[in-house]
Amino acid sequence: MAGGFAVSAGSGTQFEAKITPIVIMSCIMAATGGLMFGYDVGISGGVTSMDDFLRKFFPKVYRKKQEKGLESNYCKYDNQDLQLFTSSLYLAGLTATFFASYTTRRLGRRLTMLIAGAFFIAGVIFNGAAQDLGMLIVGRILLGCGVGFANQAVPLFLSEIAPTRIRGGLNILFQLNVTIGILFANLINYGTSKIHPWGWRLSLALAGIPAILLTIGSLVVVDTPNSLIERGKLEEGKAVLKRIRGTDNVEPEFNEILEASRIAQQVKHPFRNLLKRRNRPQLIIAILLQIFQQFTGINAIMFYAPVLFNTLGFKNDASLYSAVITGAVNVLSTVVSIYCVDRVGRRALLLEAGVQMFLSQVIIAVILGIKVTDHSDNLSHGYAILVVVMVCVFVSSFAWSWGPLGWLIPSETFPLEVRSAGQSVTVCVNLLFTFVIAQAFLSMLCHFKYGIFIFFAAWVVIMSIFVLFFLPETKNIPIEEMTERVWKKHWFWKRYVDDDDDDDDIDYNEPKKNYSNGATELQP
Ligand code: BGC
Repeated sequence: MAGGFAVSAGSGTQFEAKITPIVIMSCIMAATGGLMFGYDVGISGGVTSMDDFLRKFFPKVYRKKQEKGLESNYCKYDNQDLQLFTSSLYLAGLTATFFASYTTRRLGRRLTMLIAGAFFIAGVIFNGAAQDLGMLIVGRILLGCGVGFANQAVPLFLSEIAPTRIRGGLNILFQLNVTIGILFANLINYGTSKIHPWGWRLSLALAGIPAILLTIGSLVVVDTPNSLIERGKLEEGKAVLKRIRGTDNVEPEFNEILEASRIAQQVKHPFRNLLKRRNRPQLIIAILLQIFQQFTGINAIMFYAPVLFNTLGFKNDASLYSAVITGAVNVLSTVVSIYCVDRVGRRALLLEAGVQMFLSQVIIAVILGIKVTDHSDNLSHGYAILVVVMVCVFVSSFAWSWGPLGWLIPSETFPLEVRSAGQSVTVCVNLLFTFVIAQAFLSMLCHFKYGIFIFFAAWVVIMSIFVLFFLPETKNIPIEEMTERVWKKHWFWKRYVDDDDDDDDIDYNEPKKNYSNGATELQP
């Protein structure tokens, strides 16, 4: 998820900036924040398909798993506690976002990352040492708090520390790290599933590596100039700016941050502003993009791929192996997105992916449907391979469209004065629906059976129609020009952005300045 609260500058202004060791260091930090999140997303599915783990924590599920028959296969993992193991993380994460929005503003980005690291380490300890279900869930909740804090702070940190010209790319880079984390988790599960009876412990405990790296990282890096200036530490902010840009000539950028910070102070109620009529298009789009992203069904695959493949009759080993393949496809296709997003545009990627996702889901449903009516236990080898290929086709199209763009588009469309509040809402809605899918998928699989894929395919049709008619292209449009060039010209949304709007917190008669770099100053 989390790809992208990074706010990219849109003014096109280029300040003098070298890619200094501090900036490189920050990229490594982003890697650990993203890796940590991805690892948590990817690890639970493999672990819940391991017999040792099930026998210890979910004996009922374990007994069900031993029964034969594809019909009952669909229901063998239908257990609320088991789903809670996965979903509790997201529930905790979305609650933590509210606090994280406060700490990023008041305590700074760096300290918020440190808090995240501490939560992660505590969560890993509880999980790795778990003796009962309670410890397991407490561990997941602690990890979720870490996710809430990290996913708010790390991308903000990144977008502020990066020179403008690489800021957009960094946005998707964070998502890339999430996918690498998922793949990493799949690989670990594949290895640890062969270690009996405590392989699952190793899977859960190895999350400690990115957690410790994030913690150490946040102890050694400096806070962003934006955050320091926002908190009134002007001299320190300027000194840091000189260090990270590798030049003494930082006056223009410093002034811009200062100005953005001043404007931000004038916004008394960012969340109330967000609800104003002229912000309606961006708000509706940001919320719908998050819901749609989750209703592509991606996390049914990311969380439960091994369980799903197992359900289809794959042996444990083959299930975990197949999850590794889909994880790798996810990473590679995200790279495609980095390359294409500013060339072919957002709409083209989303629409193409819509077709590809729809077809692959329908094909999967048909294969499974035929098999169920056959009353055969497992899929034949040929069909099984076809299912894995179709899952890969599905995952790849998600990874170059809804995955990164679900995050990128909200981050580049909200106007400056509500950008931060908009990002918080984006994160919350995303985690909320991630939770819904995590909690409901295995029950849905049990009730809908292969029809689950038709369910998601239907959603793909709805979201593609939405993109076709309601999502404007934002490729290559500077953020500050979005209102004029995008919203005011859109056949539907233009009615919301009339000039004489209701009262504002901001005095718009002030001379227009270039605030690109202070975009993230506007914490609610
Ligand atoms: C989504 C996550 C998902 C991941 C898969 C992200 O964009 O927000 O929910 O697990 O992509 O790569």
